[in-house]
Amino acid sequence: MPYRFRTSLKSSDVTPKSAWMNRRALLAGAGGAAFAGAIGLPARAELSYVKSPYSTQAEPNSLEDITSYNNFYEFGTGKDDPARHAHQLTTEPWPVKIDGMVGKPGTYDMDDILGGVTLEERIYRFRCVEAWSMVIPWIGFPLADLLRRVEPGPGAKYVAFETLVRPEEMPGQRRAILDWPYREGLRLDEAMHPLTILATGLYGDPMPKQNGAPIRLVVPWKYGFKSIKSIVRITLTDREPPTTWNMQNPREYGFYSNVNPEVDHPRWSQATERRIGGGLFSSRQPTLMFNGYGEEVAGLYAGMDLTKHY
Ligand code: MTE
Repeated sequence: MPYRFRTSLKSSDVTPKSAWMNRRALLAGAGGAAFAGAIGLPARAELSYVKSPYSTQAEPNSLEDITSYNNFYEFGTGKDDPARHAHQLTTEPWPVKIDGMVGKPGTYDMDDILGGVTLEERIYRFRCVEAWSMVIPWIGFPLADLLRRVEPGPGAKYVAFETLVRPEEMPGQRRAILDWPYREGLRLDEAMHPLTILATGLYGDPMPKQNGAPIRLVVPWKYGFKSIKSIVRITLTDREPPTTWNMQNPREYGFYSNVNPEVDHPRWSQATERRIGGGLFSSRQPTLMFNGYGEEVAGLYAGMDLTKHY
């Protein structure tokens, strides 16, 4: 049974799809179906999921915004490159290696990873370090659920993540744009935080390839580049792991990269952001500390100088 049809939920637990269906009908009426075909979104089965109290009440961006304006350098550096090229990526089978300081290391497939997991809809604000933002209705589950199952060892302090390297299917990887594979990392307490999810879908469907199919990280209080896509390796370690943008330019991108309107990027202000889809004349909006998730996460950084640990 393909993982995307799997569910451990009773139908009574499951969110009615009428809201999304209405949205889709509207989208289709406005040429959305043609759009989906044009950017190569496959016809997909809908996922079963429950709603989450962690979701924002803000209006999500359209499926078109979320799937046509992307950063995924493995497919090129243009915002439309992922939508144009990601269809080339083979996502089945998808083995994920989990190693390092864990009681149960191994290579897990998507059925293993999703077995017994309750998928949730998490509508999160998403703030890119480039000062644009969206609201995205992810489908996923807490990273903590997976980490607990593989049993972090007593010395584990960090979690490192890697995206696959497959230049045959990822044209951006035929050039040394970044030091492949794309790498990211979290402190273990950040990784175990209930807001941190592994997302396997959005808008009720499995993850579009340009958004990081079949499984990606989402850490809503950090700049978007921490939310690594198409993960093939998760390593528990006692050392702060090397991370792609920090290796590329340590002065501009720190390990923590918490959204912080008071710490500017050396080349631009982080005080405000442009909400994608807001229209040509929409005004910029203020960026919130920890992207508005301070109540939940500020305690993780108590006593730390966030100007130094940017
Ligand atoms: N993951 C990989 N493997 N490669 C990338 O280039 N870009 C990051 C992040 N994850 C990136 C990645 C950046 S800069 C952002 S802003 C988000 O993905 C964009 O996610 P989205 O395209 O789903 O909005």
